[in-house]
Amino acid sequence: MPAHIAVIMDGNGRWAKRRGLPRAMGHRAGVEALKTTLRLCSDWGISALTAYAFSTENWARPGDEVSFLMTLFERVLQRELESLEREQVHIRFLGDLEALPIRLQDLISEATERTIDNTGIHFNVCTNYGGRRELVLAAQKLAERAAKGDLDPALIDENIFAAELFTAGEADPDLLIRTSGERRISNFLLWQLAYAEIHVTDVLWPDFDESALKSALVDYQSRCRRFGGLDPVNEDQLHN
Ligand code: IPE
Ligand code: IPE
Ligand code: MG
Repeated sequence: MPAHIAVIMDGNGRWAKRRGLPRAMGHRAGVEALKTTLRLCSDWGISALTAYAFSTENWARPGDEVSFLMTLFERVLQRELESLEREQVHIRFLGDLEALPIRLQDLISEATERTIDNTGIHFNVCTNYGGRRELVLAAQKLAERAAKGDLDPALIDENIFAAELFTAGEADPDLLIRTSGERRISNFLLWQLAYAEIHVTDVLWPDFDESALKSALVDYQSRCRRFGGLDPVNEDQLHN
């Protein structure tokens, strides 16, 4: 089983369009799919789920869709916080949070604080998240520390760099799932996905259910992760 699953929840708009509904209905249905996925991952002992909810590029959408999404995030967080707390979910929001509406920022702080000691699944919600933005911010923080004389630039290694990312403290995802058939990363976890196995499914995000998640896990289990080395089975054969 993967310890950490990352998911690009794509296809809400297309799901709605196919039903002759406004895009907003697709986003609403998408929330239900995320709740189901979180519960299944938690039940199956997966340590972390990182979900892409809103990218730094999604501000380019029509204003009414952006504000619908922000209000939806607020409502869902308000409604679900108690059960997240009860189910021991440890929730974090990754991204440039200062650009979000202030009410949402307040709810995010509250949810983060109230679940910080929870011992269950790590649930990371990427909100106003962009992989490039994350890398630039990390570079800025390291440069500031170096300029102050607190950090020797020659000592910057992968661990020191990763500690400045939004995902600090979280192991890299083992499996990336992207729904709705798009074969791209869309600025998601550019650093962290270095060796993730990628599963792309044509299922639209609101239709992503237990059987879709199982298919992703079965696909993952068929992979041979070499990390640049050799297939362990073939390596044995070489030595024997
Ligand atoms: C993903 O669904 C949700 C967000 C990006 C917020 P989309 O809204 O991108 O759905 P499609 O790709 O238009 O179908
Ligand atoms: C990626 O989906 C972002 C989220 C799922 C939040 P998009 O729908 O924004 O990606 P593109 O535009 O198709 O690459
Ligand atoms: Mg999309």
